[in-house]
Amino acid sequence: MPKSWIQDRKQEYYYRKAKEENYRSRATYKLIQALKKYQFICRNDIVVDLGAAPGGWLQVALKSVGKRGFVLGVDLKPIDPFSQDYIKTIIADVTDPNIANHILNFIPRKADVVISDAAPNISGTWEVDHARQIDLATQALKIALEILRPSGDFFTKVFEGSMLKDFIKTIKKHFMIVKLVKPKASLAKSSEIYVLALDMKPDNKE
Ligand SMILES: C[S@@+](CC[C@H](N)C(=O)[O-])C[C@H]1O[C@@H](n2cnc3c(N)ncnc32)[C@H](O)[C@@H]1O
Repeated sequence: MPKSWIQDRKQEYYYRKAKEENYRSRATYKLIQALKKYQFICRNDIVVDLGAAPGGWLQVALKSVGKRGFVLGVDLKPIDPFSQDYIKTIIADVTDPNIANHILNFIPRKADVVISDAAPNISGTWEVDHARQIDLATQALKIALEILRPSGDFFTKVFEGSMLKDFIKTIKKHFMIVKLVKPKASLAKSSEIYVLALDMKPDNKE
């Protein structure tokens, strides 16, 4: 059976599943699967989601933290409202130099977990897309270092390629444990992969 056929079926499978289970995106299952393996979002946590629209990951974060937690979603695009009162979404650019301070104004205390599925518009040129994705992930890391509490966790999308090694090296300076995660819901043909960084070291400065 051709690989592309299997990939298309898989894409369709998660698309339908998301519709049936009332999730806002197919991407939702990437976070669900990562959390099933590594339980990095806990009850009562403060979670900040960078590049959060349309809000599938926010739905999962909300369920995981419960009503004594808090979730903030950040995206360039507006996000349809949620019924819960322990979530807020803001329209903002994660590459804005003042974004970390801006985010701190919206969360009750420093975050326990920062997650980022932020993705650039795909150009189709592999090197360009890889570089843009690593740029966004680097920006997400900078934000995480400023808004996470010590021992907090960070989970971000990257694309595999020549710049990934240096990015991982930088992350390792700041976190005790760093893992690469490829959830089943992420297509095998895609160079997308996630970096999970656990237990931020104290006194982090870029
Ligand atoms: C793959 S989608 C996220 C899907 C989300 N995890 C979900 O489950 O619904 C990537 C998002 O990143 C956002 N994004 C890209 N660049 C951004 C930037 N500079 N600042 C904020 N958001 C950005 C896009 O607008 C898009 O909504």
